[in-house]
Amino acid sequence: MPRVSFEHIVKKFGALTVLDDLDLTVESGDFLVLLGPSGCGKTTLLNLLAGLADVTSGRIMIGTRDVTDLDPKDRRLAMVFQSYALYPTKTVRGNLRFGLSASKLPREEIDKRIAWAADMLQIGPLMDRRPAQLSGGQRQRVAIGRALVKHADVLLFDEPLSNLDAKLRTEMRMEIKKLHEELGPTVVYVTHDQIEAMTMATRIAIMNGGKIEQFGTPDDVYERPANLFVAGFIGSPSMNLLPATAEDGGRARLADGSLIDLTAYAFDAAPSPGAALVAGLRPEHFTLAAPAEAACRLDLPVRHIERTGSDALLSLAFADRRITVRVTPTDAAHLRTGDRVAVAFPKDRLNLFDARSGRRI
Ligand SMILES: Nc1ncnc2c1ncn2[C@@H]1O[C@H](COP(=O)(O)OP(=O)(O)OP(=O)(O)O)[C@@H](O)[C@H]1O
Ligand SMILES: [Mg+2]
Repeated sequence: MPRVSFEHIVKKFGALTVLDDLDLTVESGDFLVLLGPSGCGKTTLLNLLAGLADVTSGRIMIGTRDVTDLDPKDRRLAMVFQSYALYPTKTVRGNLRFGLSASKLPREEIDKRIAWAADMLQIGPLMDRRPAQLSGGQRQRVAIGRALVKHADVLLFDEPLSNLDAKLRTEMRMEIKKLHEELGPTVVYVTHDQIEAMTMATRIAIMNGGKIEQFGTPDDVYERPANLFVAGFIGSPSMNLLPATAEDGGRARLADGSLIDLTAYAFDAAPSPGAALVAGLRPEHFTLAAPAEAACRLDLPVRHIERTGSDALLSLAFADRRITVRVTPTDAAHLRTGDRVAVAFPKDRLNLFDARSGRRI
């Protein structure tokens, strides 16, 4: 399978710079997820790779081929569009078949692939309907099927699951992942759903305002966010980001005067005393029983409790803000608003950022 690389890509629409000198390489057989807020340039980047829009400057390579100026049909990839783009006059079967009509495959092979896709996507009973006679979710599955039957080396997906209900989305997530493992194409998959990103990707590129904020494995971006944007973007509920001031002796002081022990922290660059920091504490890493190696212990009043069934989110008052802590429903069962609760945070889960640059330290 070919690797895909974007080299110094700039894309402007008139005066608007949507992608700004972007570099990105997807290794052979990787499942890359482009994750970022609405409008950050995900679809634009995918369209440039597919050849549906022209770069302003820069180069796109698929394997050893420079495809920057190639026609879409010569790029040897298949794409699932955010807007489906099905042929309205063709049936579901016709739509699936159309992508293969120029392929010179034997008829049995075409029929086999169509049957395989129909079965996997649960659209068998819809084969003779036209797109106008389908629900949004059904159209989306046909669009996925049309891309899959091509068995292309490079598969592009633009939010392919956004119109499906929760159960079907989970099923389709697993199917697409399984398919990737079986066929091994290089995949570029766009979403703003971070669960999709974390569960499907071998690599994630987190985009913001036309730039890549971090590129890494799902574990990298979750465990070691490169900056405050990524820290706040990945994780639900999001990471608590608390201003702190570095002190002598491997400590930092939080806004309420309490101390964080930084002695076990693997600094990229240790801060000088007085430096303004931001401490990142994930809600799920707090414990009610103090861990042996606690970075900090806080005793705080409960302002609000949200019970989701599988867990409970405590909103605790801390200086002029709130801290969110995730606990089990059992641990939360006896708690009421106004109670004080002692929580501890383990040393090895700490994230620290420079308050001014926003970068991880
Ligand atoms: N043809 C166009 N002309 C002018 N501006 C455009 C055009 N296409 C996209 N844009 C702008 O480029 C930016 C990036 O758009 P893009 O569609 O790539 O975002 P996205 O990350 O896919 O967002 P979403 O998650 O909402 O789909 C947006 O500000 C958008 O308004
Ligand atoms: Mg988009």
